[in-house]
Amino acid sequence: MTKPSLATTLGSLALRTPLIAASGTIGSVVEFAAVTDLTAYGCATAKSVSAVPWPGRAAPRVAPTEAGMLNAIGIQNPGIDAWLAEIGPRLGGLGVGIIGSAVGYTIEEYVTVAVAMASADIVAIEVNLSCPNLEGKGMFALDPIATAAVIGAVRKAVTVPVGAKLSPNAIDVGEIAVAAAESGADWVTVANTVWGAAIDIERRAPRLSAGIGGYSGVAIKPIAMRCVLEVRQADPTIPILGLGGVQTGEDAIEFIMAGAHAVGIGTAHFGSPKIGRRVLTQMERWCERHEVSDVRDLIGVAA
Ligand SMILES: Cc1cc2nc3c(=O)[nH]c(=O)nc-3n(C[C@H](O)[C@H](O)[C@H](O)COP(=O)(O)O)c2cc1C
Repeated sequence: MTKPSLATTLGSLALRTPLIAASGTIGSVVEFAAVTDLTAYGCATAKSVSAVPWPGRAAPRVAPTEAGMLNAIGIQNPGIDAWLAEIGPRLGGLGVGIIGSAVGYTIEEYVTVAVAMASADIVAIEVNLSCPNLEGKGMFALDPIATAAVIGAVRKAVTVPVGAKLSPNAIDVGEIAVAAAESGADWVTVANTVWGAAIDIERRAPRLSAGIGGYSGVAIKPIAMRCVLEVRQADPTIPILGLGGVQTGEDAIEFIMAGAHAVGIGTAHFGSPKIGRRVLTQMERWCERHEVSDVRDLIGVAA
């Protein structure tokens, strides 16, 4: 059998492999390039950037757990102007297409970041909707109206493909995905971290300074898989980037069978920065063993 094709698409974004390095787990991408083989990925997503610098939360901001990890970093970033000046010029020539990640407290902030970010060497923008909405209540990603407002405004402001990064904490992720797609999102990323917490019983205090944070890694895979199925059931035409707890090629195949067009790797990078190449090889071998010549034939077969 000839080598299986692993190329795929996320809406109008063509990907040479289905693997996407997830935002916040590979730094700005630039420093990560030195410790990994970025050619294993279809794209790599930069850390989320806001309109003005965000200092992040006080330590401790990360805490390992029995399975996976907790983080409450507070999306520390230098702000879009410094990002454009310092990171922007270094994004070309990394051997992978870069997806910029925009975050904000208001619709205007998201638009400001996206417009500026689109002038850098990026192939798409992922809108990180897991941020408190200062104009309403809770995270943007919990509310279909707030999600539609942000995605619609960013869609109008830029011409590059736009992804909407959703939260597994939403009551109805399918409804949020439909709102994002109808407002112009080219794909939805499913999903960000799950709310979680841990207590240090010696200090009698939460392990994270914020108390509650984002739970990620191997233990959230079934939650993310459930979200992918919900989006698929809500509208099977919406392109999905599935992620949460991926560690092996088989995990990635599982997400694709649930309906994902591409698969993200996040927390696993902290344990093994080179994991992308291993996951890709495992996917290739799985396809060969099961005589699958094109990975796209597997999208949604189990949905
Ligand atoms: C330390 C850390 C920082 C993160 N920072 C961001 C971020 O800046 N923007 C974002 O959209 N997601 C961020 N995420 C979420 C990941 O991109 C991913 O959606 C989540 O961790 C689930 O995937 P995983 O289980 O493979 O890690 C972060 C995750 C971790 C663990």
